[in-house]
Amino acid sequence: MIADRKDDHVRHAVNQHRHGANDFDSVTFIHHALAGLDRQDVSLGVDFAGKHWETPLFINGMTGGSRQTGEINRQLAIAARETGIPLASGSMSAFFRDISVADTYRVLRQENPHGFVMANVNATATLDQARRAIDLLEADALQIHLNAVQEIVMPEGDRSFGSWPRQIEHITANVPVPVIVKEVGFGLSRQTVTWLREAGVAVADVGGRGGTNFARIENDRRSAADFAFIEGWGQSTPNCLLDCAGVVGLDLAASGGLRSPLDVARALALGANATGVAGVFLETLVRQDTAALVGMIRTWLDQLRDILTVLGARTPADLAGCDLLLTGEVATFCQLRGID
Ligand code: FNR
Repeated sequence: MIADRKDDHVRHAVNQHRHGANDFDSVTFIHHALAGLDRQDVSLGVDFAGKHWETPLFINGMTGGSRQTGEINRQLAIAARETGIPLASGSMSAFFRDISVADTYRVLRQENPHGFVMANVNATATLDQARRAIDLLEADALQIHLNAVQEIVMPEGDRSFGSWPRQIEHITANVPVPVIVKEVGFGLSRQTVTWLREAGVAVADVGGRGGTNFARIENDRRSAADFAFIEGWGQSTPNCLLDCAGVVGLDLAASGGLRSPLDVARALALGANATGVAGVFLETLVRQDTAALVGMIRTWLDQLRDILTVLGARTPADLAGCDLLLTGEVATFCQLRGID
């Protein structure tokens, strides 16, 4: 049952159109013709989740739990290893129910023994389950995903979310690795991120609207799209970043709708410390192969370095000082939320 759902998610996610317009198009860098610097002086390194990363880009949590998704995880892990970027597992709930699928997740570490690997659980996981997930992957960090909207749209989904804050606090206080709390495409608000900081969470991944749309995926899995009205729910990733910019004391990751190295640069300029990509990388892997994904990630990192060079940013952190023009719905959001 879970295995079928995992395969369904991949199939529908790959077929989702994700190259159209989104709110990142409303974020424009002001070009300063004399700001550029020598490309050799640019470093893509960032301090993130308590470690130094060589790149501000990671493969976000997607899958595992079935034969097919185990193979996808194997290929994602090879791509991460070959390009040196961190990666996350998909939800490990299937492993808690059936230990025989452990290898479909463990492969992330086996193929990538020295990389930064993140385990992934939902917010109803027990502390024991969170520890088992970390142990299985010898994980460097733990992602806890928040997916209330997706659960509501799934006929077989969870309907009890009241214990989530308590569980997050309990897990965060008792696991040996940094905790990253993430949305899956509907966004984190300033209020939520402030709460996460108080709970001791190391990273909030805003996981905003604009890319993979789980309400649509769940609607597509059924003949009657009962929840079509909810497909536009949530805040876009640029709006989340602007909303959370003043929250200090934890790192921010940006994911949701990053389509290009320019979107990565925009997200970093809007205050993200690192950026995660799921759907676009999955689509490349499934429609083409591992070599194509490796090539894509290398190109993104090369072009990100080019963008930093033109903008005069020696590091991704320097992008936070760039001049930006905000238009369209992003400008309206800022105005209505009272963001300068
Ligand atoms: C996801 N995502 C996800 N996230 C998570 O924390 N646990 C999970 O199990 C999954 N499963 C999953 C399956 C598939 C097929 C996709 C494409 C995505 C969500 C993912 O990490 C990310 O937050 C969103 O997909 C938004 O990013 P993109 O896809 O717009 O780059």
